[in-house]
Amino acid sequence: MPVSSTVEPQENLVPQAISPNTVAAALTEFWSPRVVGEVDESYVKVAKVLGSLTWHSHQNEDELFYILKGRLRIEMESEIVELAEGEMFVVPKGVRHNPVAEEECHILLIERKTTQHTGDVKSDKTRSLAEQLRPV
Ligand code: NI
Repeated sequence: MPVSSTVEPQENLVPQAISPNTVAAALTEFWSPRVVGEVDESYVKVAKVLGSLTWHSHQNEDELFYILKGRLRIEMESEIVELAEGEMFVVPKGVRHNPVAEEECHILLIERKTTQHTGDVKSDKTRSLAEQLRPV
């Protein structure tokens, strides 16, 4: 597993048109987001998901979910949001959440570069930033 203490400038971030749908469809692992772009202090990521991630929160970062394909349920302690293809939702910073996909779902994420995959929690699904920066 590649682990590096410093993150090199990403060759895959050279400006070019990309299709988030195509990248998501090419992913082979579930719950393993990949960085496809950056917007100032935030990364744009795509992921293929199935089943449940894990309950967690991001103390200082909002997290945007946009559904490229399929459906995603975002469970939170105060409410549950059901997202269909083409819909988006922002989980506010500090709010505990658990994304769940009953069937394969492709998502686009926008989140600050400091955002940890599973926030304050470590699980076997947790992916490091270095892993998320690997070329697809
Ligand atoms: Ni999260």
